[in-house]
Amino acid sequence: MLDTPKIDQARLDAFATRAIGDLTAGYTGVMVSLGSKLGLYKAMAGAGPLSAKEVAKRAGCAERYVGEWLNAQAAGGYIAYHGASDTYELLPEQAMVLADEDSPVYIPHAWNVPASMWFDEAKSLEAFRTGKGVAWGEHDGRLSCGSAAFFRNGYRAALVPQWLPALDGVVEELEAGIAVADVGCGYGHSTLLMAKAFPNSRFHGFDTHPGSLVEARRNAEVAGLSDRIEYGLARADDYPDGQYGLICFFDILHDLGDPVAAARHAAKTIAPGGTVLLVEPFARDHVRDNLSPVAQLYYSASTVICTAHAISEGGHMVLGAQAGEARLAEVFRKAGFTHFRRAVETPFNLIFEVRR
Ligand SMILES: C[S@@+](CC[C@H](N)C(=O)[O-])C[C@H]1O[C@@H](n2cnc3c(N)ncnc32)[C@H](O)[C@@H]1O
Repeated sequence: MLDTPKIDQARLDAFATRAIGDLTAGYTGVMVSLGSKLGLYKAMAGAGPLSAKEVAKRAGCAERYVGEWLNAQAAGGYIAYHGASDTYELLPEQAMVLADEDSPVYIPHAWNVPASMWFDEAKSLEAFRTGKGVAWGEHDGRLSCGSAAFFRNGYRAALVPQWLPALDGVVEELEAGIAVADVGCGYGHSTLLMAKAFPNSRFHGFDTHPGSLVEARRNAEVAGLSDRIEYGLARADDYPDGQYGLICFFDILHDLGDPVAAARHAAKTIAPGGTVLLVEPFARDHVRDNLSPVAQLYYSASTVICTAHAISEGGHMVLGAQAGEARLAEVFRKAGFTHFRRAVETPFNLIFEVRR
């Protein structure tokens, strides 16, 4: 007979509380999405204390629904509640996270990613049971639009002011004029930011997902930069040889089924003295050092998105979204690169400079 396991009551209470907190976060995500899509946060931003009726009127929504939503948001600390006046207020810090789409800490679009993960659960169940892959483009459309919008804010805050200057001599080359490849460019937010900052250089974005390329072209057109950015449907190991002075991989290397083939292709198509900019999710080399909320988010997305995509591409080397520096360096060493340096890091990203 098995012994009844001895329960540590304090540990049980702490973990149950933690798990309920995570469950609450899932409910809150739905509220954040509604608040964002209905313009409720924007209606409150900078307006000071408002009654439920005033918020509903400003956003053009039904008052009874808005009242309940406001209470949910106040209970979660997403807005302030003033008991004496029975009013609700979106404080300036909360507005940065919830209402200002250009703020580096704007969150609502990011909830599209777990929404797509839930929507695609049947595909993930099937993938676990069969070992088959799920390609990026097979997911619900909220994956590509949510991740593009989420990454965009980080890129806006850091790519041109911090990451590119951390690479030896690259800003000077971009200013003088070079060809740049953005491999797995998605919606092209990274390409666009670089093209805006460096008018003498030419930019080439490549991706295998036609829907993302449509958005990337549209974004370039809206920004008036279509003459210097060209987007093409191509794999990371077969885009045209442009003798690029800079080849960028923004959050894509670990998604690939054969990252070494992609690195080899970069080695072939890079100009003499050219640089690879590799941006990957922040991770340490071993899972024992990755037991944090940021890693929890990345490992979870990796399970059903990144790992699944790499397997759909043959799964020669499935890095996952928490690859870590040692394994990333090994990919480039195998492809013939001799220089691999961590140029800068943020709580969410590792940024490497790689040369032949
Ligand atoms: C996580 S998204 C990153 C997109 C973009 N770089 C960004 O930072 O927003 C990964 C992208 O890689 C693309 N992709 C996946 N496999 C690819 C491959 N073999 N070659 C080129 N692009 C690929 C996907 O279509 C998707 O747009």
